Amino acid sequence: MSERPDPPTTQAPPGAADLAARFEREFGRLPDGVWQAPGRVNLIGEHTDYNEGFVLPFAIDKTARVAVAVRQDSTVRLLSTYGDQGLVTADLAALAPGSAKGWTKYPLGVVWALQQRGIAVPGLDLLLDSDVPLGAGLSSSHAIECAVITALNELSGAGLGPEDMVLATQRAENDFVGAPTGIMDQSASLRGSKGHAVFLDCRDQSVQLVPFDAESAGLVMLVIDTKVSHSHADGGYASRRASCERGAEALGVKALRDVRSRDLPKASSLLDDVTYRRVRHVVTEDERVLQTVELLVSDGPGAIGALLDASHDSMRDDFEISCPELDLAVETARTSGAIGARMTGGGFGGAAIALTPVEAEARVRAAVERAFSEAGYTAPEIFTVTPAAGAKRIS
Ligand code: GLA
Repeated sequence: MSERPDPPTTQAPPGAADLAARFEREFGRLPDGVWQAPGRVNLIGEHTDYNEGFVLPFAIDKTARVAVAVRQDSTVRLLSTYGDQGLVTADLAALAPGSAKGWTKYPLGVVWALQQRGIAVPGLDLLLDSDVPLGAGLSSSHAIECAVITALNELSGAGLGPEDMVLATQRAENDFVGAPTGIMDQSASLRGSKGHAVFLDCRDQSVQLVPFDAESAGLVMLVIDTKVSHSHADGGYASRRASCERGAEALGVKALRDVRSRDLPKASSLLDDVTYRRVRHVVTEDERVLQTVELLVSDGPGAIGALLDASHDSMRDDFEISCPELDLAVETARTSGAIGARMTGGGFGGAAIALTPVEAEARVRAAVERAFSEAGYTAPEIFTVTPAAGAKRIS
């Protein structure tokens, strides 16, 4: 494990110059800079973050990028390359929960959250581009928020450290966007590092970077986007969170982080069946995260397949946040050669991951595509990801 920062980028990656040129065409002047932040895949540790537990996500090689220039007035003008809303204009003094629509909720939510901390955010022109698939459970919204907060932290001179940027983006999500999510996604996006997973203790935000090099173990990490879209502002996520809070209260602990699997027999006598199974998922998932970290360090990625499988089964049976498409993706990947597979992210749709030997990749892809077609499901999108750097300025 290490805390090694990523080396500074010496060359602007493709995309920064194009985005700056597009910004100049749209806004009639050059941006002050271009910033990027990645989406994430969670290797393991699902619905443990808001229970003050452990997570092990990594930043992926798909990013949101923002070109931004400061204005001298209190206007924010927002445009995206998706082109779905055209130019959106807002006034800094009028931002409030419920005042924004579509993707503009994310940048405006960040501006609002910084204002709530007493930070004077200047007027802005902003152009967004992103290749993080939307609604796939890869945290496209946090990628936008983290790119924006990294830009605004610099442009406003706020000087926030990563822990405070994590909390500010969580405030944006919880109170402006209206999704009661935890701190995993933005921690991965802001604190990720090439070649590493981010082992995060969600109680105190301490981070250890754990080497995760699938390639040198002869493996690839496949993402299977089921195309079933989900939103954490819908009821399922909030109801799981409420069950966990009820469980912690009934068991007399601050958070489920404080319960161990040896406490489960007693918990089963104190809780109703549904709450008990929600609690059992969180408690066993925390333990799986710790075991995964140990195994990655001692034996490498080839050793963690069974833990990925157990995590999925627990989400399917105890936490009940999977769906038939995710179960089919996971089951088919396993039976056609993956060494471990699980849904990733908040659930109710989105993506599964399958850790797969290089020589089985084509077979797994073909088997999943065939299974989806035979079941009459929309064709999935399947691609590989590798652990990439966290948010940064790229030009
Ligand atoms: C979503 C949330 C995270 C986390 C996961 C589930 O991605 O944004 O905070 O709770 O679901 O692990």
